[in-house]
Amino acid sequence: MNSTSLPPGPSTPRPLQTIRWIARPAAMMEDCRRRYGDMFTLRIAHEGTWVFLADPEAVKQVFTGDPRVLHAGEANVVLLPMLGHHSVLLLDEAAHMSQRKLMLPPFHGERMRGYEQTMAEVAREEIERWSLGEPHAVRPATQAITLEVIMRTVFGVQDGERRERLRRALREALEWGSDPRRMALLATLGPQRVARAPMFRNVREPADELIYDEIRLRRDADDLEERDDVLSLLLQARHEDGSPMSDDELRDELMTLLVAGHETTASALAWAVERLVRHPQVLARAREESEAGGDEYIDAICKETLRLRPILSLVLRRLKQPMEIGGRLLPAGVTVAPCIYLIHRRPDVYPEPLAFRPERFLEGQGGTYTWIPFGGGVRRCLGASFALFEMRVVLRELLARLELRAPQARSERMVRRAITLVPERGGEVVAERRPTRESAPARVAA
Ligand code: HEM
Repeated sequence: MNSTSLPPGPSTPRPLQTIRWIARPAAMMEDCRRRYGDMFTLRIAHEGTWVFLADPEAVKQVFTGDPRVLHAGEANVVLLPMLGHHSVLLLDEAAHMSQRKLMLPPFHGERMRGYEQTMAEVAREEIERWSLGEPHAVRPATQAITLEVIMRTVFGVQDGERRERLRRALREALEWGSDPRRMALLATLGPQRVARAPMFRNVREPADELIYDEIRLRRDADDLEERDDVLSLLLQARHEDGSPMSDDELRDELMTLLVAGHETTASALAWAVERLVRHPQVLARAREESEAGGDEYIDAICKETLRLRPILSLVLRRLKQPMEIGGRLLPAGVTVAPCIYLIHRRPDVYPEPLAFRPERFLEGQGGTYTWIPFGGGVRRCLGASFALFEMRVVLRELLARLELRAPQARSERMVRRAITLVPERGGEVVAERRPTRESAPARVAA
């Protein structure tokens, strides 16, 4: 196998493929799989050539492949203006590994229990404000929860006033990035030029100033060693040569954690609610088990939600050398895209793939290369345990406090928001307060 080739794909011109990919990603992936099979090629505007992979064996090849050949950071360059050059999401090879090693310990699964109380408290405060008796979207509320949780557990800002200022600046910066017109601008100008553009710097700089202040204050804090927020842990982390992380590195990684962890988890929670209110039996079982002190079923609900409604439909790796995948030698320069969305809908892995059935995760369905909402290999999401833990805590609080029903039977469609897939109406529910009771006696397992 010496000559390289691309798998088949639509022959429509690149701009048309791009428009369809932006407007109807789910329908496009499903059509292409039907027509071309488990490996197909799309051509997306400035992104170049993408080879979609919908076969678990091919996905395994990518996730276990050589990181010198498979560059993920390079494929994420559109995030550069917001995240900065040190971001773990944008680095590759040795530089990526060394940054990732510093960041792994604070996100170790067992550490999550320390954040439970904060997460539950933030969720309760937000749930208190929910409007009752009329349809309203849950995504703004889950977004407020996940932002607040990150500010307290990752940034570790304890002072209420400073938190408010930071919250406002971060929201503005995040909003800037998720506006579709700005996405178009990014595509046209390219990330390097956007990073230097005054209109972008005007939103980024106020947030940066507050973050740098927080870093400086924390460096001098005399209780640094007792604190368990991620920033405090990163301040104590050391590179292999014994040097601490610089302020710029810390700023970039905090921004990375915010951007990677805030809307993703908020949308996953909105989807969980959207699915639950359309499956009253699942909802009833979840409440029963949660009140009895278990969280296995809620965990299965989170996994099933992320299977059927993955927030990201694919992950990307740019090939630095030709690589054989799925029996075909792909040329250097193309981007391979393990397709989360299509893998999760394979009937040979998930019988009745379109059914929302959390029980399948109690029965052991889903494996390293077939349940991949968090990607995989050396690039697997650093916040996977954090996100799943937060989802369980927030759902438990919701179920304990509110009766929830769907304002209409029809499921919400998946629509694109920047690079994520969110419910078209933000996960609409009608909520009523339940009689107050003590919160569930159980704790959520880390
Ligand atoms: C339901 C919520 C989330 C989803 C669906 C999600 C999904 C993903 C995916 C698909 C990737 C790329 C993996 C790959 O290329 O193989 C990723 C990377 C990453 N995620 Fe998440 N994520 C979530 C929440 C979080 C949270 C809460 C944090 C941190 C607070 C976080 C931090 C990161 C980081 C730092 C990376 C880059 C890892 C690397 O390049 O080494 N994510 N995430």
